[in-house]
Amino acid sequence: MTAAATDKPVWTQKHLLGLADLSREEIYHVLDTAEGFKEVSTRSVKKVPALRGRVVVNMFFEDSTRTRMSFELAAQRLSADVIYFAEKMSSTQKGETLIDTARNIEAMGVDIMVVRHPAAGAAMHLSQAVDCCVVNAGDGQHAHPTQALLDLFTIRERKGRIEGLNVAIVGDIAHSRVARSDICGLLKLGAQVTLVGPPTLVLKSFETMGARVTHDFESILPEMDVISMLRIQKERMTSSGFPSAREYVRFFGMNHERLRSCRDDVLIMHPGPVNRGLELAADVADGPHSSILRQVTNGLAVRMAVLFLCQQAAAGEE
Ligand code: CP
Repeated sequence: MTAAATDKPVWTQKHLLGLADLSREEIYHVLDTAEGFKEVSTRSVKKVPALRGRVVVNMFFEDSTRTRMSFELAAQRLSADVIYFAEKMSSTQKGETLIDTARNIEAMGVDIMVVRHPAAGAAMHLSQAVDCCVVNAGDGQHAHPTQALLDLFTIRERKGRIEGLNVAIVGDIAHSRVARSDICGLLKLGAQVTLVGPPTLVLKSFETMGARVTHDFESILPEMDVISMLRIQKERMTSSGFPSAREYVRFFGMNHERLRSCRDDVLIMHPGPVNRGLELAADVADGPHSSILRQVTNGLAVRMAVLFLCQQAAAGEE
């Protein structure tokens, strides 16, 4: 390899909008950078100066616990100044547009905007209107890139690799941004992905992405290294296409009985929030196979890595 090739930074993106934009090498670079940042949270003083003097704004137009708080904490651990945009108390209530809102916030000297929005494409739309970094914290049904990165990080940490693993994603794939980003990342890193759920929510068309589709949960349990259970969106339960809660649990709920058909070292994942007793029985959610809280812990390190790398790429452009 030439000196010029080795000097070229792996990560050159100032925005993180989705995993579709990332190469395999870039995904591994985020995971490796997060590995380094994970240690910071074990120190008595949990802070590094990587983003000192920088300003991060959290713009959440949808409810969130994990993503919002971990981005806030990640920015604080990197010594950035963090401000929070509360939609309900903002001038969007008086009719100000998303773009005008973002440009006005940027005019205060913001370096990174973290955006969650119910509309697919909102983060990309913003990234074309502002000069600062934009990080997608979930846009409609389109993408949730940091959730997928933390899922990949957790799988690699627990299994030692991603390539060659059999991973099932179970539930409402059709409406899930987590599923779309997970499928994209897992396939790029060489896992085999199986999508499981009722035919109305797991369409055959997902096979065009490179995943396998099945509606028979029981039959795939013995082959899986990792099973990721998606949140059942109760608000959709009454709409056509969604079975009743009872029927869903019967065919697609992960419980102790089904766990017995799985490999001894199967990893059970869930992005949260969990509906206990629906997608997961409580004893499975809290049991030794579950990585739910580990995913949350890892999310902090992954978001530190994302904020750091995007800011570093932006600084390279200055
Ligand atoms: N997994 C996830 O995005 O959770 P929140 O909606 O609480 O951020």
